Amino acid sequence: MKDQLAKIKAEALAAFDSAGGPAALDALRVKYLGKKGELTAVLKQMGRLSPQERPAMGQLANEVRAALENAIETTSKRLEQAALDARLKAETVDVTVPGTAPALGHKHPMYIALDEIKDIFVGMGFTVLDGPEVELATYNFDKLNAEEGHPSRDWSDTFYFDEDSRVMLRSQTSPMQVRAMETMPLPIRIIAPGRVYRKDEVDATHSPMFHQVEGMVIDKGVTMADLKGTLNTVVEQLYGKGTKTRFRPHHFPFTEPSCEMDVQCHKCGGVGCPTCKGEGWIELLGAGMVHPKVLEMSGIDSEVYTGWAFGIGLERTAMRRFKIADLRLIFENDVRFLEQF
Ligand code: DAH
Repeated sequence: MKDQLAKIKAEALAAFDSAGGPAALDALRVKYLGKKGELTAVLKQMGRLSPQERPAMGQLANEVRAALENAIETTSKRLEQAALDARLKAETVDVTVPGTAPALGHKHPMYIALDEIKDIFVGMGFTVLDGPEVELATYNFDKLNAEEGHPSRDWSDTFYFDEDSRVMLRSQTSPMQVRAMETMPLPIRIIAPGRVYRKDEVDATHSPMFHQVEGMVIDKGVTMADLKGTLNTVVEQLYGKGTKTRFRPHHFPFTEPSCEMDVQCHKCGGVGCPTCKGEGWIELLGAGMVHPKVLEMSGIDSEVYTGWAFGIGLERTAMRRFKIADLRLIFENDVRFLEQF
């Protein structure tokens, strides 16, 4: 029996040592120490021993069992550690490898120009308004004093949604003047940027969709001097101190008197060059004193209040600001072009 125990011990320890993994080790534990295991089988024969032999043999059997259990414990730890090491090695992450940088976009040049304009006006206490692009002719024309038969109301110029020419894509941001007068408390200082639509063919200076910024001030005692003073300040902030401007008489149905404002050509300083088409001046915006009829139609007493308004084309402003020669570049959204700003 002593030999049997020694043989089991030697065999078991060798087997544990070469176990390939936790499952194999567990199978070996059952094989040697389990209920039907080899060691258990030997212990079952103890009864056949004489009372003198029993204690010594019992002690030896216990020592073998303890040795096997010990060995299982150590081997199990060794296998777990090996499995962990293998996993760590397989799942290595090199945190120093440079990542793929996401391509970040930036503001469109036209919106850079718009934000500059907004900043200037907000700094002077103006509120920025947003308005509908699908507009009623009532707001786009009637309440702006452009009566039936006015050339801009023609079907060849304007996108209408209905036979009666009452619903349309707004052809200017000026309807926001009326919307502001109808809803805001006086005095009013607003600008309203946004898209406008006209039936124009696409070329280097035209697009059926473009952007305008409308501006308006209504208060007591407002005069043409305020219009000129404010717009001159804006132009100096946009194009630099000392930039010269001039105001030419013009006609708009919703202002009286009306004017157009030119800035002196930044390229030639007023002498005349291809940029200003030999004029020395570049047209910037339309403006004027809000027509008393327009004030009255929006419920404002023209005996008490006066106001001025202007409308500026945003694409042209951006083109001048960034020296862009063709309007189409602004809308084509070719990243190679946009990246430059
Ligand atoms: N709405 C005019 C246009 O589209 C521009 C304009 C001129 C707006 C004079 C104004 C203004 O507010 O007072 O040509």
